Amino acid sequence: MSLYVAGTGGFGRETLDTVRAGWGTVEAFLDEIEPDGVVRGVPVQHPESAPAGHEYVVAIADPAVRRRLVGVLDGRGLNATTIVHPRAVIAPDTTLGRGCVVFANAYVSSSITIGAHVQVNYNATIGHDCVVADYVSIYPGANIGGAVTLGEGVTIGSGAVVRDRVTIGAGTFIGAGAVVVADVPAGVVAYGVPARVVRPND
Ligand SMILES: CC(C)(COP(=O)(O)OP(=O)(O)OC[C@H]1O[C@@H](n2cnc3c(N)ncnc32)[C@H](O)[C@@H]1OP(=O)(O)O)[C@@H](O)C(=O)NCCC(=O)NCCS
Repeated sequence: MSLYVAGTGGFGRETLDTVRAGWGTVEAFLDEIEPDGVVRGVPVQHPESAPAGHEYVVAIADPAVRRRLVGVLDGRGLNATTIVHPRAVIAPDTTLGRGCVVFANAYVSSSITIGAHVQVNYNATIGHDCVVADYVSIYPGANIGGAVTLGEGVTIGSGAVVRDRVTIGAGTFIGAGAVVVADVPAGVVAYGVPARVVRPND
């Protein structure tokens, strides 16, 4: 079984590092914009040429792009796989859906439900009993308190802190360094200390 990694940007190359740290090898990168060449010794090809029956992960930060490429690759008959760096912690009673990527030094605590195609960057932490929906992105160094609910496609910026028991609605983007102390509605950009809604997330 071969692994295909969609995305040759920063997150894609960091995912390659994560795979090589413990999981195995990458057969090819998949890239719609520059589908030729070689990146870090790995050949690049167009997603539409990825062969059925193999494994894939979409390593692109933007949740909407990730969702679209998942549709393309599922439609071609590939199977999404979850990759966890050997130096990340996934505590007992926590489940991850398919297609997730968890980088080194992430700490994902116990009794957490994580959906599909979720990205947890290096040095991020997620507290006990959280519910994390599909396509969430947690950027480096963000800290999510216990029993937090993150809706589909939420992004938590670098170094942000989310207080325990808060709910953040689907499609919302929390800016770098924010401190979220109350619920945030769906579809907005919020940042600051304490975090305030600034505008819709277009
Ligand atoms: C929140 C965010 C999406 C806003 O982006 P944007 O709409 O393009 O915002 P701009 O850069 O145009 O800044 C608009 C204003 O908001 C302020 N601002 C932007 N992001 C801010 C943040 N995270 N905290 C506080 N203020 C912020 C800017 O200082 C600027 O203020 P001004 O109008 O007084 O000059 C972005 O700044 C952010 O934090 N992204 C996350 C980045 C990150 O974590 N990267 C890690 C990648 S691995």
